Amino acid sequence: MSFDLVLFGGTGDLTWRKLMPALFQAFRHGKLPPGGRILSVARDERSDDAYRAFIKERFGEVDSAKRPSDEEFAQFAELVHYRRMDLSRPEDYAGLKQWVEARDADTTVLFLATSPHLFPQIVSQLGNVGLNGPKVRVVLEKPLGHDLASAQEINRVVRAAFREEQALRIDHYLGKPAVQNLMALRFGNVLFEPLWRRESIANIQITIAESLGVGTRGDFYDRTGALRDMVQNHALQLLTMVAMEPPSRNDADAIRDEKLKVLRSLKPFTEESVARDVVRGQYRAGNCDGARAVAYHDEVKVPSGSTTETFVALRTEIQNWRWAGVPFYLRTGKRLAERDAQIVVNFRPTPHSIFPGVHRPNKLVIKLQPEDGLELHLLAAKGSGQSEALAPVFLDLDFDKAFAENRVGAYERLLLDAIAGRLNLFVRSDEQEQAWRWVEPVLAAWRNDGTPPRPYAAGTWGPAAASALVARDGFAWAEEQ
Ligand code: BG6
Repeated sequence: MSFDLVLFGGTGDLTWRKLMPALFQAFRHGKLPPGGRILSVARDERSDDAYRAFIKERFGEVDSAKRPSDEEFAQFAELVHYRRMDLSRPEDYAGLKQWVEARDADTTVLFLATSPHLFPQIVSQLGNVGLNGPKVRVVLEKPLGHDLASAQEINRVVRAAFREEQALRIDHYLGKPAVQNLMALRFGNVLFEPLWRRESIANIQITIAESLGVGTRGDFYDRTGALRDMVQNHALQLLTMVAMEPPSRNDADAIRDEKLKVLRSLKPFTEESVARDVVRGQYRAGNCDGARAVAYHDEVKVPSGSTTETFVALRTEIQNWRWAGVPFYLRTGKRLAERDAQIVVNFRPTPHSIFPGVHRPNKLVIKLQPEDGLELHLLAAKGSGQSEALAPVFLDLDFDKAFAENRVGAYERLLLDAIAGRLNLFVRSDEQEQAWRWVEPVLAAWRNDGTPPRPYAAGTWGPAAASALVARDGFAWAEEQ
């Protein structure tokens, strides 16, 4: 299947940091369909060779395991082309169309890796020039909007030029292997599904912790904050995957219909519940990853009096028969104690204990990163005495090790899916809008509330109020258990 992949924003960070390394990995693994062309477009004039040299140099900054040798790069570079485009000029789109049509590949994927404020312009120009035929797909990177109204506006423009199934919204968390495994765990095995409900589960915790600060993205981040950057998309997508009903088929709309139902069942926030159930924080200086870290408001391009949150913890519920009353805790932040993304399913205690001592209930930990695996925490008898207390033990499945050869990174997976037209792991516009609808009352309450985010020291697990939020229900975050 021949393909043309056009990367708008061809010299930008996303392209050289994530997309080119992912494409190279796909190429190295022999997964990129033959007959492909990758065309980067950007504003300045350069030749194909100059662009290839630029990408080659940038590969020096990616993970060494993902760096090509000279020979590998030379082969990969044959697929890579460059074209200058002024995104405001209709004739430049006409030129692009000619380039695409001259070969008439089986499929054309137009990846918008530019700043999102350019999406409406690019998408409508593509429509005007007719680069929106049935073989064309357009891929949109987050952030898709700043709130519900702006997300709806982007969707309106996209819909005017492309059908829903031609528009692929990326949430790279859905491309992480652990998230695929969550589907496999729930719907490929009989073991957990009968327990996957309020009768057996006490609470579910979703943590996406980062030890990095905002780095060089201070200006973007300060306009965005953790709720928009991580909760509205990544954390909520994980929640839908954990909580959805079994889809009837492994196909995009069957899955996305179920995810949408979860988003629609989330308990809506009110001003009162935001004050009670949402904690926002901002990091101060501290020690992180073995080095001194500056406070958020001392980061480059961050205004000194900023009240943008770098941490959010919240409690919500899903109002349906399966989950009524089960707290879902979501937590994310920058400059936390470690880089750690995981979903912890805490089961209820046994109804009656015949063993001495106090026992921890079972728990299942779905580890997204840095490791990719599963831990099932159980209790066992050591066999050393007659009335001994039970001892905690756990089964530890390391998927990186088990499937080392075949594991693919999130962007590699999503790019290959975009080329093949597999939509399961892309977010549909109604899901995305519903997620915005749910976070909007939180944004509004924060706007009306004059109090700044709670401070926390870099290198910790966030403000103490986040622990109190969970403790109030008689539970504790995984690292405190
Ligand atoms: C991005 C956010 O979507 O996800 C970043 O904009 C964040 O702020 C990143 O650092 C985290 O992704 P990952 O895959 O490194 O956990």
